[in-house]
Amino acid sequence: MNVGIDKINFYVPPYFIDMVDLAHAREVDPNKFTIGIGQDQMAVNKKTQDIVTFAMHAAKDILTKEDLQAIDMVIVGTESGIDESKASAVVLHRLLGIQPFARSFEIKEACYGATAGLQFAKAHVQANPKSKVLVVASDIARYGLASGGEPTQGVGAVAMLISADPAILQLDNDNLMLTQDIYDFWRPVGHQYPMVDGHLSNAVYIDSFKQVWQAHCEKNQRTAKDYAALSFHIPYTKMGKKALLAVFAEEEETQQERLMARYEESIVYSRRTGNLYTGSLYLGLISLLENSSSLQANDRIGLFSYGSGAVAEFFSGILVPGYEKQLAQAAHQTLLDARQKLTIAEYEAMFNETIDIDQDQSFEDDLLYSIREIKNTIRYYKEENE
Ligand code: CAA
Repeated sequence: MNVGIDKINFYVPPYFIDMVDLAHAREVDPNKFTIGIGQDQMAVNKKTQDIVTFAMHAAKDILTKEDLQAIDMVIVGTESGIDESKASAVVLHRLLGIQPFARSFEIKEACYGATAGLQFAKAHVQANPKSKVLVVASDIARYGLASGGEPTQGVGAVAMLISADPAILQLDNDNLMLTQDIYDFWRPVGHQYPMVDGHLSNAVYIDSFKQVWQAHCEKNQRTAKDYAALSFHIPYTKMGKKALLAVFAEEEETQQERLMARYEESIVYSRRTGNLYTGSLYLGLISLLENSSSLQANDRIGLFSYGSGAVAEFFSGILVPGYEKQLAQAAHQTLLDARQKLTIAEYEAMFNETIDIDQDQSFEDDLLYSIREIKNTIRYYKEENE
């Protein structure tokens, strides 16, 4: 049975900073951020926007009334959860108005969570062909002001509807997984920001890709020629490029040029948002599909998922005829273009403003699905009809 991504959408908040401005403020050569790291802009959020807010925006626009009745599982992948126990997926389930007989939960493994969710969803639909599963990747990637990781921050969500006979990408059963207990990036309970060994994380990412790519090709008897494009987890846009270059020595020049051209198409949106953590791979996939003029129906797309700590997975899917009709390039362009550019002082002020969850309070702002009130440590969100 064909199972895969039927619908896909992303959301980023309506604020960003320019990486050249950030470089000047941090007294760094702007080329380090725009060329060395490969980022032009970075998405920034207000304190009243959290992973539920982003998830709502990303999911709401793609779900019909029929979908809300057919969905019987909601999975949120995140490493920026808002509760140590209750899953944000339960809140999302209510806010979206999904029928009650559903399973809702959250998955955590750094930037890999949504991929685990996607694979779980695939298995569920394979066993229950009439079911649909909502998988959402939603995160706030923050390392701290003026920290080494600051230029690789970002924020946002990707929502995917997984179903039988999908309209966009039919997932294959060719997954190759890898687990290694490595402390390259982790966040102990109670810590606001992750601990990160940046250079180790780069090395583990590249090595993990080399291992799963090689083993995947061996296991499935494939070569680079079988892939129209490879899409990567994109913590910053130079990262996937470094991984791709690491396996190029074994590939013909024409294959190298072709795959690098597709990679450039997959990073168009990430250059303007920064890291979405678990959503990054899927933002890259949306960017590839919406910005490539050379992809065609029945092309095979390879996806590399990486979550520090460290878990990696390589899998692939086949583009479904008519997939382009399911995309929303104009809306995504508008979403990115309509954002307000912040000065670095405004960004720092926004960054430092946080919610005290133990303090009952209400908030006045005009952002849809934002937190309107905190009462007894519970977050209440502004809904459409308010
Ligand atoms: N002009 C052009 N390029 C320049 C430059 C200049 N003036 N100055 C420096 N550069 C280049 C460097 O040569 C380097 O390029 P290469 O890696 O290709 O050699 C690049 O800019 C970065 O320079 P540094 O390595 O000196 O930068 P840094 O020490 O400040 O660290 C970082 C960069 C490790 C990515 C850091 O920002 C960080 O720790 N980020 C968070 C961790 C992260 O994103 N890791 C990615 C893998 S882990 C993962 O994928 C999970 C996840 O989402 C977190």
